[in-house]
Amino acid sequence: MSRPKLSDRASRHDAAYLRAKKENYAARAIYKLEEIDQRFHLLRPGVRVLDLGCWPGSWMQYAAKKVGDDGLVVGIDLRPVTVALPPQVQHFVADVWTWSPALLGADVRFDLVVSDMAPHTSGDKHTDQYKSEALAERALEIARQALRPGGHLVAKVFQGGQFPELIKQWRAAFQETKPYHAKNTRTTSSEQYLVGRGLRAAAQLPAAPATAT
Ligand SMILES: C[S@@+](CC[C@H](N)C(=O)[O-])C[C@H]1O[C@@H](n2cnc3c(N)ncnc32)[C@H](O)[C@@H]1O
Repeated sequence: MSRPKLSDRASRHDAAYLRAKKENYAARAIYKLEEIDQRFHLLRPGVRVLDLGCWPGSWMQYAAKKVGDDGLVVGIDLRPVTVALPPQVQHFVADVWTWSPALLGADVRFDLVVSDMAPHTSGDKHTDQYKSEALAERALEIARQALRPGGHLVAKVFQGGQFPELIKQWRAAFQETKPYHAKNTRTTSSEQYLVGRGLRAAAQLPAAPATAT
């Protein structure tokens, strides 16, 4: 019996997995950030990056290389990161719903916030989209607390009913907003990255402690 033929997307996904393994990246997700960075030019030496949903660590590996010794990469995830990372990277186990940039102590302002956060998939598309949109909205709130004016935010979202409202919120916060569909996307076509460039000074929030739910 002949093997079922993989779809284009599935075979790209497979190729990305093998390439990430060969290039010693913690996950194939690296190539999505690389693609976004090549398109929007977000990472360069000296940049300070906050990475929400950083486990297993491939985005931090990529960002650390791009920002170099003079940059900073801070990662947050529910799960502990175990991959080896250079000294410009710090990572913490935390839940974004109870974490705030104020917990970093010093008044660090970041140049870029990235969020690849995804909820545990429930099997129900609408529930997953709803949770993903809530995580993207939380990423925007944290970005408004953590970014310097003029800073940028990239956040993954599984597009559902709240997507137009999210775009509206992004547009109010940033000078330029673009939804971006990465070629290296794994499964559903509803996965988008919302890219906001140039945080408006009026959209900044004080880095107040998060209110636990
Ligand atoms: C697709 S993975 C991120 C992959 C990562 N960008 C990389 O390149 O290695 C999504 C991550 O979001 C994290 N996440 C989901 N909800 C979160 C929350 N409430 N707080 C912190 N992290 C969360 C998950 O634990 C998971 O590790």
